[in-house]
Amino acid sequence: GRRAVVTSGPTREAIDPVRFISNHSSGKMASAIADELSRRGAQVTVVSGPAAVYPSHPGVEVRKVVSAEEMYRAAVEEYGRGCDITVLCAAVADFTPASPSDTKIKKDGSRMTLELLPTKDIAAAIGSSRRPDGVIAGFALETDNARENALSKLRRKNMDMIVLNSMRDPGAGFGVDTNKVTVFRRDGSSQDIPLASKREVASAIVDNIEKLLEGGC
Ligand code: PMT
Repeated sequence: GRRAVVTSGPTREAIDPVRFISNHSSGKMASAIADELSRRGAQVTVVSGPAAVYPSHPGVEVRKVVSAEEMYRAAVEEYGRGCDITVLCAAVADFTPASPSDTKIKKDGSRMTLELLPTKDIAAAIGSSRRPDGVIAGFALETDNARENALSKLRRKNMDMIVLNSMRDPGAGFGVDTNKVTVFRRDGSSQDIPLASKREVASAIVDNIEKLLEGGC
């Protein structure tokens, strides 16, 4: 009976009508979490960028978006409709072209420079206007200073827990069917979840969310 919103996949930031900036997120991790939440009885809406994989549980509603701006609007709107569980798993672009061209940019042999503007941070926006109840879970994908960066994001974005995956761990992160993560909670406790299928990792993450909803740790 709980309501959950999950962000998923990459975003695409248009350079011109035929080119974009994006990343390697497949949507597998977020879809596994959405399916697990739905299996446990939550009413789940996924806000997904253009992903390779979408949730398979029939109860999950999917709202498709393309850009970081579209994902921001949809996720903030869904959160505003009332939400017990928020899982921010999308790999949202941090920068977007300042002035995308309406027509295909032609090459003329010279160098080209793209000016990029920062995008809006969905997690930070939801975290700063959050209600005291409910659970907000974020992700951190890191290459260096992983623990420090994850803990800093947990605090800065006012979340209850953050799931760290490192690009340095084989079998973890983008695209693969497995993941290896550490869950950090706001109370300072943490849990290592060893390399396992994204479905098994999703189940362990949802166990953490359930405990926080029940007021445990
Ligand atoms: O999709 P898969 O191929 O299965 O891969 C899964 C994953 C690697 C994408 C996933 O496990 C993951 O780590 N997702 C977060 C990736 C990321 O962009 O992390 P970040 O450290 O840049 O962002 C920190 C947090 O802020 C994340 O919860 C992110 O969703 C959120 N964020 C970031 C930028 C932004 N503009 N808005 C946000 O909400």
